[in-house]
Amino acid sequence: MAFGASHLSLALSLVALALAGVAIYRNTYEAMNMGLQKLSPNFDLSESSVSILTLNNNVDQQNSHKLSQQSPESCVFSAVRGVVDSAIDTERRMGASLIRLHFHDCFVDGCDGGILLDDIAGSFQGEQTSIPNNNSVRGFAVIAQAKQSVKDTCPNTSVSCADILAIAARDSVVKLGGQTYDIALGRRDARTANFTGALTQLPAPFDNLTVQITKFSDKNFTVREMVALVGAHTVGFTRCVTVCVSTNVNPAARLSCNCSVTQNNTNLQQLDTTPTVFDKVYYEDLNRNQGILFSDQVLTGNTTTAAIVTTYSNDSNVFFGDFAAAMIKMGNLPPSQGVQLEIRDVCSRVNPSSLASM
Ligand code: HEM
Repeated sequence: MAFGASHLSLALSLVALALAGVAIYRNTYEAMNMGLQKLSPNFDLSESSVSILTLNNNVDQQNSHKLSQQSPESCVFSAVRGVVDSAIDTERRMGASLIRLHFHDCFVDGCDGGILLDDIAGSFQGEQTSIPNNNSVRGFAVIAQAKQSVKDTCPNTSVSCADILAIAARDSVVKLGGQTYDIALGRRDARTANFTGALTQLPAPFDNLTVQITKFSDKNFTVREMVALVGAHTVGFTRCVTVCVSTNVNPAARLSCNCSVTQNNTNLQQLDTTPTVFDKVYYEDLNRNQGILFSDQVLTGNTTTAAIVTTYSNDSNVFFGDFAAAMIKMGNLPPSQGVQLEIRDVCSRVNPSSLASM
């Protein structure tokens, strides 16, 4: 009897041990899997992402309860979202500006935060004063504030400025009414920027369709992805200085700019009929020949692109899905080979060289 009972308890213990083993294995596997899924396959396990994951483990040991409430990654996401949301509450256009800032970062030598580097008189000319950006791109103060908020609320978590740009753009799409999408963290910031690259790699409002397609296919985008991405013009404004140059504008567009008076950088023209809402109205406008930029309206002048415009103008879900997928792809454009990378401490300047390998 005693012999039978001890065998039974031994057997029960073995079953319990086996179950615990499976549970530990599954938890570990799922945690690893989640961590890895959040990292883009296009990126090395860069120091930034490693630091987030390592930190995860340390915090896990110290305070697993707190971690279950908010991981370092979700701390970063909510810190950035808080800043972006309130910036858009203050000025709705800021959402559009942040989406464009991310685009102008990624299209010039990959998503490397290059656009955020300020010029240094006499020694460094970055991307900000290059023609496509000069007096035009906006949102730098919001990105600086988001970086500060991450530092203040997520201690010991280092996140690149390029990552912050990607999150801010996504949160802007959502805040303005578009569809959310996942963002993999792990981008790193360049220790340089490319003034001429901004001029040659970014599309211009006077670009015809062939040039546009070439610039997007240089970055590995299909024509459909290009038409989806340009749909970002469903939000935001262009300066009258831009559209009062005849080669930049759709000649049939009914402009609110008064081009007979001298323009400055503050007079604005909305890019579609509903510039503060992320919707499919941009494509509807194109189908009414009311696109604003020359580069916008040429999308209806070719059978392939016109068919995509009509698809999107008929169904916002198709546009939203394609836009989200293309934004993820754009956000994964890798920095140029050989460029020195770091996690910048202050987004507008490179780290002092002693911290260059951070
Ligand atoms: C052929 C491609 C494109 C061309 C030629 C183009 C050109 C322009 C121009 C000229 C402006 C107005 C600039 C100014 O007057 O200051 C503008 C604004 C804007 N662009 Fe594009 N763009 C293109 C693609 C994209 C893409 C792919 C995105 C984002 C994914 C984007 C997002 C925006 C947004 C949101 C604005 C409004 C920004 C604001 O109100 O601050 N654009 N674009």
